[in-house]
Amino acid sequence: MSIEEKILKTLAELQVNEAAAVEALFAEVRRFLDEDAQDPRWKSEPPQTLRNRWLARNNSILALVDENWLKSAPKELKPVAGREFNRLKKEAQAKAVLQLEPLAIHPQRAKERSGVERNALAVDDLTLPGVRRALGSFHPVTHVRREIEDIFLGLGFAIEDGPEIESVYYNFDALNIPESHPSRDDWDTLYVDAQTVLRTHTSPVQVRAMERQGAPLYILIPGLCYRRDNPDSTHSPVFHQIEGLAVDTHITFADLKGTLDFFARKFFGEKTRTSFHPSFFPFTEPSGEVAISCIFCGGEGCRVCKHGGWIEVMGCGMVHPEVLRHGGIDPQRYSGWAFGLGVERYAMMKYGIDDIQLFYQSDVRFLEQF
Ligand code: DAH
Repeated sequence: MSIEEKILKTLAELQVNEAAAVEALFAEVRRFLDEDAQDPRWKSEPPQTLRNRWLARNNSILALVDENWLKSAPKELKPVAGREFNRLKKEAQAKAVLQLEPLAIHPQRAKERSGVERNALAVDDLTLPGVRRALGSFHPVTHVRREIEDIFLGLGFAIEDGPEIESVYYNFDALNIPESHPSRDDWDTLYVDAQTVLRTHTSPVQVRAMERQGAPLYILIPGLCYRRDNPDSTHSPVFHQIEGLAVDTHITFADLKGTLDFFARKFFGEKTRTSFHPSFFPFTEPSGEVAISCIFCGGEGCRVCKHGGWIEVMGCGMVHPEVLRHGGIDPQRYSGWAFGLGVERYAMMKYGIDDIQLFYQSDVRFLEQF
């Protein structure tokens, strides 16, 4: 049986069941490698041919040896098979590199070569370490989004999402923002056509989720939002929000306060205090803004909190009965609370970043710090 037939069978099928036999089998492959590398038929082929025959990720001789001899080896033969495999691989790599002609002879071909091969050619020293590829890291906005998700997942919330290209109905009407209402101007909307917008907030997913799942509902909705804002250090026409929504029987403002206070302490630190004050959103009644005691000065007053001691971190309120009704939920039976926050702002507070534009410039010197 030739080597090329043998590598299609497992060690068991070849009746190789002790260490010495494994070594003998691999020695046979190495002899075959020596002969094969000398074979005149490869001389007329591009240098990659021999390399691929032995080393390609799929269906090469080494890939088959790995699959049939190493991966399926019985436990007691794994160490010797692994050792022998590595030795074979090194020899095959060395042979494949030697096979490459010097750059000067075929400049046209040299151009087609991969960086790794070029490297091997250029240095000719196989003992040098390889080219290390840097590992990426999560974007700071992703970090913060996940951290917030984790806190709410721990409270039993599920993650929900919805479309970024949204109908005027879900973005406004279903949220109790009628066309004539001046509050529509609060959201500098980018229209796709008369009935379609790029969603200005994540709130439309509230109604979509109510329609789809009904009550009770405990969801967190992270996602991108769009507004016709000029970019500056605190504005971006594309940004991230996270929406929270709880709908159930007997949900009260106390649940809202308790949950958001718990969240603030988990995210900003146990010493953080929250304060709620009245505000207005068409989709909540009553509506509020949540402020946290300044995480930089502890509430004493500093530049960041503009000497007030408090920083506003989200809008919230009790879901308006009209919104529940649009979601097909009976407001006589169910009540709910909701909130919406800007993820970039949280990342800016957490990491002490003073320019939102840094998040979108993809400058690795900035991103690799997180
Ligand atoms: N959608 C609001 C905005 O983009 C934020 C918001 C406020 C969401 C109050 C809510 C809420 O769910 O209850 O400005």
